[in-house]
Amino acid sequence: MYKSDFGYDIIIEKGYSSLSQKIHDLLIPHIKAPWLDVGCNTGWLLESVPGGVGIDASVKMVNLAREKGLTVQHGWAESLPFNNNSFQTVVVSRVLEQCDDPFLAMQEAMRVGEKVIGINPYPAGSWGFISDDDWARNVLVPDLFEWRWSTTVERVNEDFWFFETIERV
Ligand SMILES: C[S@@+](CC[C@H](N)C(=O)[O-])C[C@H]1O[C@@H](n2cnc3c(N)ncnc32)[C@H](O)[C@@H]1O
Repeated sequence: MYKSDFGYDIIIEKGYSSLSQKIHDLLIPHIKAPWLDVGCNTGWLLESVPGGVGIDASVKMVNLAREKGLTVQHGWAESLPFNNNSFQTVVVSRVLEQCDDPFLAMQEAMRVGEKVIGINPYPAGSWGFISDDDWARNVLVPDLFEWRWSTTVERVNEDFWFFETIERV
């Protein structure tokens, strides 16, 4: 299902950019193990926080992460191969804007995790360009996202915002 020939090839590592470093430092205090990194790329965040596993749609990224000894599998955010509430924290950072079905990807993250955190681009920012109207209405608009998924939102810079789901009681 979804893009079986997915060929994402931007290799992100610690120090790749000041933004990546900022995201790294911002996400880490919010992560509690066991945790899942959806769209983990090379596993650069997994390297920093023990107790995590990763999933990525790109075979190339999965292989790069595995070469570091990380536990990472190939798969899709829209169909996570994990039981309900398997993780304390699920991280979805700079991934929803690339998903065929970002709404389903968020539902899946909420299903497998007690808490979901992540980074999304603003629709009008330079990384929001991939969206169509419907998609942007559901995913990229912080106010609507906050309401739909019961999250807090916080500006990272002119292009990106951080979210965290509010604890369910
Ligand atoms: C911009 S990188 C973000 C990497 C990392 N999460 C970060 O914030 O630095 C996006 C990653 O998501 C992966 N990806 C894109 N669509 C995906 C999907 N539907 N399911 C799983 N991974 C996906 C890509 O292969 C890529 O490694």
